[in-house]
Amino acid sequence: LSAPIIITRETFKTCRRGAFNGVPADCCPPKFIQGPIVDFSPKYNPSKPLRVRKALQCLTGKELTIYTEKLQRGYALMRALPDDDPRSFKRQNEIHCAYGTGPFIQNASANLTLDIHLNWFFLPWHRMFIYFHEKILQTLLKDPNFTLHFWNFDSSVTLSTSERPGCFKAGHFFPPMYLDPSKSTFEPNRTYRAFEPSRPVDLSFDATQWNPLGGVPPVFPNYTLEEQVWRNGATMYKSVVSSSNASSFIGKPFRAGDVQIVDPTIAAGNSEKWPHISVHMWIGGLMYLAQTSPRDPIFYHLHANVERIWDLWHKLGDGRADPSDPDWLDAEFLIWDEKKVMRRVKVRNVLDIKTLGDTFENVNDASWICFQ
Ligand code: C2O
Repeated sequence: LSAPIIITRETFKTCRRGAFNGVPADCCPPKFIQGPIVDFSPKYNPSKPLRVRKALQCLTGKELTIYTEKLQRGYALMRALPDDDPRSFKRQNEIHCAYGTGPFIQNASANLTLDIHLNWFFLPWHRMFIYFHEKILQTLLKDPNFTLHFWNFDSSVTLSTSERPGCFKAGHFFPPMYLDPSKSTFEPNRTYRAFEPSRPVDLSFDATQWNPLGGVPPVFPNYTLEEQVWRNGATMYKSVVSSSNASSFIGKPFRAGDVQIVDPTIAAGNSEKWPHISVHMWIGGLMYLAQTSPRDPIFYHLHANVERIWDLWHKLGDGRADPSDPDWLDAEFLIWDEKKVMRRVKVRNVLDIKTLGDTFENVNDASWICFQ
């Protein structure tokens, strides 16, 4: 009989040193969870307007100025929190690292690691993480409407569309608001690729060629803009449109008692491999490793877009639906909220982003959905 992964207080107590990509991970959060653990279930109020997560490249004028200022202030406040505050920038990284590089083990005694990467937990776990991260920023900014917009890296083609509302600007350049070295959203270790304002992101790095145990950095050839746009379209098509079922898009099952697979070609869904891992690699620096990636604030805008693409995949329909397997739906994770309270979140609680209060701006996805 199979059973879902369930994270408990015990799991935190038995956290130990992990490793990923050959690099050690020392990131256990405190072993003893203080206070109660409170079940999370979304409080959806259909009469309340949803917060709209927008495409970063389409913000203009006053809206852009205000958003940039809030984002930079939010990260400055988060970086300034004491390390022992679970909402601090440091601890945000630690919780992702603890869940994402193997320091947590299953059932205390069993020496089975547990990872929310490279299997079917990738999308729902990161949605929980981004949800609470957004709540923390809202709390620090004292603005309940603050929204984590998305880096629309898949949008390559500029179309003039007067007949459809929404955002139709190419989003494949690194967002400039992250490039100001005097601001809290800066990260100096990114590779040169992120610092060339006219270089589009390369979504086509093939994660199946990435050997996480070998750690040889991928080589990114210099494509022309035209070639790069074509390749990005092909990658998006392969990741989203060609993934016609849950197993290919969401990832393969990981249940209690399973051995974590570290080869990305076996159980990771296409939503995780391309363009997600490709974008991590393209930025490089802290983003290169699961141990450190949330220490580059671009992480959260990248993941907001991954969530949007998940939504879009649902909308394409025709068999593109989440797993109905109870071992996925009933899997439980513990994560601190914006009030420093430990919450118990099931996968089934985060599948519809509307119930979490967010929706996504309409953007130009047709450039790759209709790719030929
Ligand atoms: Cu847990 Cu983009 O990774």
